[in-house]
Amino acid sequence: MADLSLPTVLVSPEDRFVSAAADAIATRIASVIEARGRCRLVLAGGGTPRPIYEALACREQLAWSEVDFFWGDERAVGPDHEQSNYRMAREVLLEPLGVSDAHVFRIEGERPAAEACDAYVATLGDSPLDVVLLGMGGDGHTASLFPGDPASVEMTASVVVTNSPKPPAVRISLSLPTLNAAKHVIVLVAGSGKADRLAQVWRELANGPRQLPVARVRPTDGELLWLLDDAAAAALPQQVNP
Ligand code: 6PG
Repeated sequence: MADLSLPTVLVSPEDRFVSAAADAIATRIASVIEARGRCRLVLAGGGTPRPIYEALACREQLAWSEVDFFWGDERAVGPDHEQSNYRMAREVLLEPLGVSDAHVFRIEGERPAAEACDAYVATLGDSPLDVVLLGMGGDGHTASLFPGDPASVEMTASVVVTNSPKPPAVRISLSLPTLNAAKHVIVLVAGSGKADRLAQVWRELANGPRQLPVARVRPTDGELLWLLDDAAAAALPQQVNP
């Protein structure tokens, strides 16, 4: 049987990255729904997923009413703030699909961070997450787990308050063990600005030590899929599987 702790890597031409990502995400959501009736989907913030969410919003044949929406991280801002990860997803995915509020479980960034963090621990409960979408920042962060921040190596709590080097500084994030307990983790990376950092991640994946937060994402009993575009993958070895 395939070693599920090793990533599968799919590199797409820049003009096909969005549709390839939407296909991969939709396939996994559908297979989880087929297997257990509902899917706990975790959304990423940042610019990369936005067009992918727009593409997903056109997949009306997917059983969206069986999806519960969570977030991997949120900035300490209210739900209508331009920096809100929830707001971005609401605008391009949740509202276009007409998702019921009963299936939307956002991180309440408008509350004091420690309170919002505790509330999200309760919201998540104990069931593992099915499909987790992540991005990679130019510094190798993922969700809001930043290099050098002690919260990025928290191994007990399921949700953490973190510090971002760029504003908004206060963030709330799923912890590494929560990400690594997921059934499917999909890391979305596009653009030439990410190429050098991605090459560093690949060296860490192949030879260790895994220091960058995104390199520590390694589901214990699930699938890890990296979806890249040509530009992001430009500095990787020709054989991209580490
Ligand atoms: C956020 C994130 C973060 C993001 C990366 C990549 O809230 O900003 O969830 O981890 O995925 O910073 O962001 P871009 O896609 O904008 O490069």
